[in-house]
Amino acid sequence: MHSLAILYSSFAAAVLIATLSPAHAQTSPDADQIAYNNACRTCHSIKEGDNRLGPSLYGIVGKKAGTVSGYDSSSAMRQSGIVWDEQNLDRFIADPDQVVHGNAMRPFGGIDLEDERQKIISYLKSAGGN
Ligand code: HEC
Repeated sequence: MHSLAILYSSFAAAVLIATLSPAHAQTSPDADQIAYNNACRTCHSIKEGDNRLGPSLYGIVGKKAGTVSGYDSSSAMRQSGIVWDEQNLDRFIADPDQVVHGNAMRPFGGIDLEDERQKIISYLKSAGGN
């Protein structure tokens, strides 16, 4: 009985870790795209070279900030020295001005819901193969 309880609690812990770990976050491609469409598509395209009000987000994951070709990025963005890894993207989408002070991504207030940010980042990863 005692060992069964231990077995059960370690199983429960494993399930909990699998559920909470971002690496195992369960998002569906459709839900990811909807989240992106709702929050970003007004100003961004994910097509390569398709710069609109904001720069194309094709291949943005892993790219150096302010280097999207053909887009006139703000000097704040160009001088930020940031690389758009998942963590920086997550922080930027949550609160752009805190990550790149004086950036020109306006009006965009930031997204508080972590779940929503994860979906968007998952979609961006699928856009451009990084
Ligand atoms: C109101 C229009 C608007 C919305 C909505 C918007 N953006 Fe932007 N975004 C911009 C503009 C304009 C820039 C250029 C900022 C600069 O150069 O300072 C930008 C820049 C960026 C950059 C930096 C690209 C670079 O130059 O390195 C990323 C990443 C980004 N946006 C992601 C997103 C994501 C993800 C969303 C949705 C959650 C989003 N944006 C929503 C207008 C917008």
